[in-house]
Amino acid sequence: MRELKTLFENNRAWAKRILENDPEAFLKLSKEQKPKYLWIGCSDSRMPANEILGLDPGEVFVHRNVANLCPHTDFNCLSVLQFGVEYLGVDQVIVCGHYGCGGVKASMETTQLGLIDNWLRNIRDVSSREKEELSQISDPEAKYRRLVELNVLHQVMNVCHTTIVQNAWAENRKLSIHGWVYDLETGLLKDLSACISSIEQVDETYRTLKLH
Ligand code: CO
Repeated sequence: MRELKTLFENNRAWAKRILENDPEAFLKLSKEQKPKYLWIGCSDSRMPANEILGLDPGEVFVHRNVANLCPHTDFNCLSVLQFGVEYLGVDQVIVCGHYGCGGVKASMETTQLGLIDNWLRNIRDVSSREKEELSQISDPEAKYRRLVELNVLHQVMNVCHTTIVQNAWAENRKLSIHGWVYDLETGLLKDLSACISSIEQVDETYRTLKLH
């Protein structure tokens, strides 16, 4: 309980600091949010979106889950995506993984962890589809790092395969999906140069068009 008391003390000090800088900060934030970015990141406690990006409250809409996945059947992630894109007007979606991701690591092993193995199955699918490239890498650490990157790239495509993103493009909305990796050892972001901004960059199999 004493430990939680510290959190309330921290909270009061934080709110005071913000108000010293702008006495109306919370009043303004309470009225609306207009974030430009949607961050889909790992739940890992070492990668808080706002801090890494140097952004204030109200600037980034955030969805986090173990190993930053966006499976096409996950209504949680899809709902965040739809609300962010259609109602908040987000125009940059960032899928960000991180080296040293425990979820990715677990997907490379054979021992069960429990329920979570069913979630991490999505990364095993990535490994299976990228078997050819991954089998060329003999160093286990390098293979692990590459799987972190490939997982991000696949999740970027998953985001692009949604009707949400494709409808936004069909309406000529400016919307880009980015794939990044965060390095826990340096605190720095790496751009995987996988920016997708139009339907032409999506495999034809996954292209859909809404009937009007
Ligand atoms: Co992780």
